[in-house]
Amino acid sequence: MNDTEMLESGNMKIDWVLNHMPVLNIIREQFAKEKPLAGHKVAMALHVEAKTAALVETLAIGGAEVAITGCNPLSTQDDVSMALHNKDNIQCFAKYDCCNEEYYEAIDKVLDFKPDITIDDGADLIFKLHTERTDLLPEILGGCEETTTGIHRLKAMERDGALKMPVIAVNDAMTKFLFDNRYGTGQSSWDGIMRTTNLLVAGKNVVIGGYGWCGKGAAMRAKGLGANVIVTEIDPIRALEARMDGNSVMPMKEAAKIGDIFLTTTGNRDILKKEDFEVINDGAILANAGHFNVEINLEDLKAMAGSVRTVRNNIKEYKIGEKRVYVLADGRLVNLAAGDGHPAEVMDMSFANQALCVRYIAENKLSDGVHAVPHELDIGVAEMKLMSMGISIDKLSDEQEAYMAGWETGT
Ligand code: NAI
Repeated sequence: MNDTEMLESGNMKIDWVLNHMPVLNIIREQFAKEKPLAGHKVAMALHVEAKTAALVETLAIGGAEVAITGCNPLSTQDDVSMALHNKDNIQCFAKYDCCNEEYYEAIDKVLDFKPDITIDDGADLIFKLHTERTDLLPEILGGCEETTTGIHRLKAMERDGALKMPVIAVNDAMTKFLFDNRYGTGQSSWDGIMRTTNLLVAGKNVVIGGYGWCGKGAAMRAKGLGANVIVTEIDPIRALEARMDGNSVMPMKEAAKIGDIFLTTTGNRDILKKEDFEVINDGAILANAGHFNVEINLEDLKAMAGSVRTVRNNIKEYKIGEKRVYVLADGRLVNLAAGDGHPAEVMDMSFANQALCVRYIAENKLSDGVHAVPHELDIGVAEMKLMSMGISIDKLSDEQEAYMAGWETGT
């Protein structure tokens, strides 16, 4: 594609998702009238694809200047990146398949812009602000964090007394993780796996590593596609949930012997490693949906493999003796690195939370540390979403409210 075609393609992708993001559209209208972000500079490190672009535009419509880069080297869509860079008050530095050096250079460029508000997906901006760019911290009013792994990092910083700015844990809003992590990852990971492999899921043994919100969604959709689902866990409660939801549960060492497709969703490292590769079947397909590419230990796989070759776009074949093991998207999040990410209707809620939290930071002075998304914002997003879907619900009567608040009434 030439530049004109790239630009057109990026803008068409953004238009498409905007037609399916009604809550964000309501917020855009409010932002256009009220300009709540005028005078603010927002730095972002997020997956640069169309839904993110819709959020970036919303912030710019609200009066902010925005600089953005990617939060993963393989999730950027260059046409969307170019379209964003060509819009007023927006700079975009993200590039698909950039090397580590370019990735961190782009993070620096976003910070050179001297932001007062940040949005991260994985906490890379905040990490940089607290290590090499501490000079910028005094100007920062606060930040928002999009994903579970980012919140883990931030809570670890807070525990160590190292977090020197307020951050809102957007991931932990109910209108985020219950939908984005579960239904979003559930659908888009299978979309990524299926479009990459063009293979059947029905009748396969699918192993899901981790039964958190992403794992639950991934297992649910695998079952719907006709797979026999096996879950691995370290948490007894989640393991029980997985079993009672109708899945088999066993240690990875056992699951590795029978799995056909593996999908890791733990946010932890080494879910698939040497001892598993030793017993894994010929033709096994490995994919990851967790934030970082540490869940499948590729170093172990490389060390064991006699040869590695690309057999199809986004599929590498590792040959261990006569056994072939296929890794999708180099173990990076398969739904974004080998797909288009979550459906727009789901990101509508996640990014509505982001936009409202950025406004909240601009309008309120927060103390350093990790903050919850204000409950009224979370509920407000749910209400707007229901309204956009044409769904109304019941209201408590006065008698019901009094009954629920009281303790006198028994049998
Ligand atoms: P979660 O905390 O709800 O679930 C993670 C689960 O993995 C927990 O149940 C935990 O007990 C389990 N686990 C941890 N170590 C394990 C091990 N060694 N073996 C088996 N299970 C293990 O987290 P959530 O929200 O499901 O997120 C998981 C990961 O996915 C995070 O890295 C998050 O950032 C990422 N994520 C990715 C998305 C995407 O678009 N691909 C979207 C949302 C989150």
